[in-house]
Amino acid sequence: MKNINLDVKDVLGTVNSDAIHAFDSKAADSLSMLHDGTGAGNDFLGWVNLPSETSDSLLDDIIATANSLRNDCEAVVAIGIGGSYLGAKAVIEALSDSFAPYKKANGPVLLFAGQNIGEDYLFELTSYLKDKKFGIIVISKSGTTTEPAIAFRMLKEQLEAQLGKAEASRRIVAITDAKRGALRQLATEEGYKTYVIADNVGGRFSVLTPVGLLPIAVAGFDIKALVAGARRMQKATAEDNDDNIAMLYAKTRNALYSAGKKIEILVNYNPKLHFFAEWWKQLYGESEGKDHKGIFPASVDNSTDLHSMGQWIQDGERTIFETVISVVNQRHNVVIPSDEANLDGLNYIASRRVDEVNKMAELGTRIAHVDGGVPNIRITIDSLCEDCLGELIYFFEKACGISGYILGVNPFNQPGVEDYKRNMFALLAKPGYEKETEAIRARLS
Ligand code: PA5
Repeated sequence: MKNINLDVKDVLGTVNSDAIHAFDSKAADSLSMLHDGTGAGNDFLGWVNLPSETSDSLLDDIIATANSLRNDCEAVVAIGIGGSYLGAKAVIEALSDSFAPYKKANGPVLLFAGQNIGEDYLFELTSYLKDKKFGIIVISKSGTTTEPAIAFRMLKEQLEAQLGKAEASRRIVAITDAKRGALRQLATEEGYKTYVIADNVGGRFSVLTPVGLLPIAVAGFDIKALVAGARRMQKATAEDNDDNIAMLYAKTRNALYSAGKKIEILVNYNPKLHFFAEWWKQLYGESEGKDHKGIFPASVDNSTDLHSMGQWIQDGERTIFETVISVVNQRHNVVIPSDEANLDGLNYIASRRVDEVNKMAELGTRIAHVDGGVPNIRITIDSLCEDCLGELIYFFEKACGISGYILGVNPFNQPGVEDYKRNMFALLAKPGYEKETEAIRARLS
């Protein structure tokens, strides 16, 4: 049984069901291309069967490593950026207590680094870690990405100063390419525990590999349930049939794009999903935004953003559609108290659950936005549990692959992200970039 449902009836005022079905055969071809490996980027399809191919022994090994870090450390820093960061961050944030983030039971606090080049961020992180027992999970497929490399150099030095080199090595886990890259070489030389990021799994599709699973397990969450959910969705989206919600989502968003809806806003009504939207934006933005095509993925956290972006969404240019993630069941039951004076006029909702108010805000918004010309796709998810999130992750991955192929791009490369790096290296006079340095300096003078 799936924990996720997809409802597209609130797009039908903009695109009718024929317009969605017009993509049937392209979606079917795209699904086959993902399964047969006959499409562009077919050397990056390792994620398609990843859930069913992930062995229990790998999961047990990850859990054992996580437990040893949990036992030895007050804090664990997960270092990585982009696909080597956002999946773990999304899942951990969705599962965590809002006021004890990234920490379950008596485990260590999980921190993130290498996802920015903020000098103050690094100063404050190293200050925070000064008197703490800490460990490091360093994640980089290429092993050469500047942001995580800077953070790792600093934290490794700090850990070695605290513990000595040999003991520090026991508190560092590296997740990287099987053979290539600076991080692999260092891990071998220093004897770190390592996990491999398979060649055929790109960064933004790697949350269900050790890249995401180890930090999630260190934070104390059930990675077996997460993978079980993903396996269920793998099965549910394997065939070309009317129940395949990944195909329906991919077809619907392409129909909307063809009708001029160029921006998709992923909407949540649960603040724990903020980083899930960040993960989703990378997945869809990096996969589809190329060849001067692609839906721009945006996001809002409601009802918070109804008080900031709400005006634009209701009344701005009609080039948007929304995909709302609605969480059916909350973890806790909180009722609004009654108040004798009732000066705030809230007694009409006294004794009702906070979630009922939230759900009415959601429904009221959906009706207003649909009336205002914003087509709505609705995804309902039973609750924010590991199992449900596993389903949701795989659902979005599968739909992304199908959607990118329907759009006619290679969903598995990211040539555009290299341009800033080339300029940055030239500006920093990195060895090997002498020509570029000369050219960019001449341009700026
Ligand atoms: O999706 C991607 O490929 C990127 O976001 C990468 O994951 C990101 O740039 C980090 O790369 P690496 O893991 O090689 O350090």
